[in-house]
Amino acid sequence: MAVRRLAEVQPESFAFSPGNRAWAEREIAKFPEGRQASAVIALLWRAQEQEGWVTRPAIESVAEMLGMPTIRVLEVATFYTMFHLEPVGETAHVQVCGTTPCMLRGAGDIIEICRKRIHAQPHHRSADGAFSWEEVECLGACVNAPMVQISKDTYEDLTPASFEALLDAFEHGETPRPGPQNGRQYSMPVTGSTSLTDIEYADDDVPHARARSNGTAAKLPHSAADTDELEPHTAVNDIAGGEDFEAERLRRKGGVPSQAGGTDPAAGETAEQEVAHPDASGRSDEAASRAMGARAEGRKTRKSARDQAPKSRSGIDRKAQPRTDRDLGDKDS
Ligand code: FES
Repeated sequence: MAVRRLAEVQPESFAFSPGNRAWAEREIAKFPEGRQASAVIALLWRAQEQEGWVTRPAIESVAEMLGMPTIRVLEVATFYTMFHLEPVGETAHVQVCGTTPCMLRGAGDIIEICRKRIHAQPHHRSADGAFSWEEVECLGACVNAPMVQISKDTYEDLTPASFEALLDAFEHGETPRPGPQNGRQYSMPVTGSTSLTDIEYADDDVPHARARSNGTAAKLPHSAADTDELEPHTAVNDIAGGEDFEAERLRRKGGVPSQAGGTDPAAGETAEQEVAHPDASGRSDEAASRAMGARAEGRKTRKSARDQAPKSRSGIDRKAQPRTDRDLGDKDS
């Protein structure tokens, strides 16, 4: 990764637009007195969204708003590659992960395409100013390698063909769907679930649940063109494991999860709204709740059986037995 320095050519000044200024003040007010610096990343990001990149005057302005030394804000802006320190492509700035897992899975080919279609060198804009690219370090989606980040979105499981298609879409003014570009959901196996397959799935509308029930999981679509029915869910309760999150949220609020997954009166939910939200793997809240109950019951039963069981099959407490010659006192052996 290149050394990150501020661009040589900088604008004269920076000011948040009135709307962004009001938003920034609300962000700052979220933190207790003396902790305003905690808003630094949020403010830098908003400045970048407004200007397209993080300018020196923007850094100085954010430092002043937060009562921070400018060098501290500069450190943040130059550390995180999410902040662009020079003007980038107006349509898309492609950040290609070049760390080991992505490199082993073909990031080199993605970089070659960037060189060919955007500019031979990173941190340079294409002839029309629409695109730019750079290589960055791991972006945390290694299991979906190789991947790129464009603005706030990541595009994963890329091949040279799907990456070219991605650039084509941006060129045509489209906003491609983020996430895996090979049709799989999140980071689950491309052939569908391989674990927790004994859980009752309530909603047959979800393709993987349907495939599991009729034994055709291996035939699920994998090409980008076939992925319409695999629309990703983004709400936290729709993520596999989200039911645990929901249960914990209710516990902290003093609520008790109901059989149907629980309702949150504070959020204005009704019991009717709670049911039949299939998660990404096809479970409804109700099915997930039942599965959790069954797991908890199973844990209790196993623990009780362990507590009552003899220490070994022979009834001898092995912990009390010598295990080595040294334990037997044969120190010379
Ligand atoms: S190595 Fe590429 S996302 Fe982690």
